[in-house]
Amino acid sequence: MSTIISPSMLSADFLNLGDDVKMVNKSQADWIHLDIMDGTFVPNLSYGLPIVEHIKKLATKTLDVHLMIVQPEKYIEAFHKAGADILTVHIEATTHLHRCIQQIKALGMKAGVALNPQTPINQLEDIIQDIDLVLIMSVNPGFGGQSFITHAVEKVRKLKQLIEQTHSDCLIEVDGGVNLETGQLLVEAGADALVAGSFVFNSQNPPSTIEKLSRLSSTSTVSTETD
Ligand code: DX5
Ligand code: ZN
Repeated sequence: MSTIISPSMLSADFLNLGDDVKMVNKSQADWIHLDIMDGTFVPNLSYGLPIVEHIKKLATKTLDVHLMIVQPEKYIEAFHKAGADILTVHIEATTHLHRCIQQIKALGMKAGVALNPQTPINQLEDIIQDIDLVLIMSVNPGFGGQSFITHAVEKVRKLKQLIEQTHSDCLIEVDGGVNLETGQLLVEAGADALVAGSFVFNSQNPPSTIEKLSRLSSTSTVSTETD
């Protein structure tokens, strides 16, 4: 089974965003990852609803929206209207996570929960049956191009165990510092989906880089060649 790849548009060329969306459309990517930052939950601002709406008009792939904002429940409906297919909220950003998940699912979107690097997997025990995806952060959220925190691999293993024990069908996605080497470790540990921003968009040949990432499997041999 191939790995789901979700290129992060945070590293795209914003003066030619349409061209980068078309590139992702034509590539082996399954999803498009959109990072929404509020300057409070994370020390950075990115882009908001109008950009998501424009990308939706052009994108032929699943919109995988990662909310790095406080009180995400206030914006669930707005991101649904803007075109999100998967809506992921941070466990650290809302007091009423369960209600938030129910709201996302009631609108027909897939519901994801993201975990910062210091947040343990056991905090998911009472929500794992209700969610479609867990997003494990392998960097501190807020910026592209940071180094991979290797402890994320162990967290993927623990999460995989929890999913198996509870017979949940939730997917494991990992975000931050993903390249062919770290991606291989993550897939071996049980990751189903990988977000990659700078590794894809800073490469000479982004479609080929996406294809190489998508070919990673728990039995593949690592090729560290980049294009
Ligand atoms: C970080 C974002 C990531 C970011 C990943 O806060 O959530 O999606 O774009 O960028 P890379 O792949 O460059 O680490
Ligand atoms: Zn992200």
